[in-house]
Amino acid sequence: MAEVVILPDADAVGALAADLLASVVRERPDAVLGLATGSTPLTTYRALAALGLDLSAVRGFALDEYVGLPTGHPQSYRAVIDREAVQPLGLTPSLVAVPGGDPIETAGEDYERRLVDAGGVDVQILGIGRTGHIGFNEPGSSFASTTRVKTLTEATRRDNARFFDGPDEVPRHCITQGLGTILRARHLVLLAFGAAKAEAVAAAVEGPVTASCPGSAIQLHPRVSVLLDEPAASALRFADYYRQAWADKPAWQGL
Ligand code: PGA
Repeated sequence: MAEVVILPDADAVGALAADLLASVVRERPDAVLGLATGSTPLTTYRALAALGLDLSAVRGFALDEYVGLPTGHPQSYRAVIDREAVQPLGLTPSLVAVPGGDPIETAGEDYERRLVDAGGVDVQILGIGRTGHIGFNEPGSSFASTTRVKTLTEATRRDNARFFDGPDEVPRHCITQGLGTILRARHLVLLAFGAAKAEAVAAAVEGPVTASCPGSAIQLHPRVSVLLDEPAASALRFADYYRQAWADKPAWQGL
């Protein structure tokens, strides 16, 4: 089962996630981190940057990227990762990979090869969309899927329109690590904030394991930490139990 930790706000979650990432990097300076984009990981990146660790040997793999944006577009995930993770954290740009590129037909296989060559992801940071997507694996994605081009749902395009000049500017396609790819990471850390995510979180953590909620794939993974603020946890049936388990957790266990 996933370990669910409910904290007062996104800053508290970011601090906890940053502590976990820091402990992984202290043990292994060239650790492989799975990087997420969107609003969700920002408090984690901020808290990790504030710890002042040398992260120059860390290797990073982004979860996903839009397909169809011009190179260097400020909302391309390459640009977002550079701005929000690489620069503030002091990562080495050449050690941080984002899927995509030319030719797009083989970009998914290339990315899978690069992940395998790097020895796999030590800790994968995940957000979750209101559709239940992780990465850009929208409902119906196979649990065995690997990195490939997908079509975004209209719901996701609407949610992401806030980053663009208008809803029509949001690309229709993306390239994303598959659910099978994500499940190979050694530790999954799913973060979610706000009431708008509450239903998706409850479906992912407590609902049936189903391709209709891609986030429910986390239930198949042996090591998952789900770190939530109170509103994102508000639809969980067993919230009291999660709180109690966290409060009573032996200090030596960590996340
Ligand atoms: P958000 O997106 O972090 O911007 O809420 C999460 C997601 O869609 O996976």
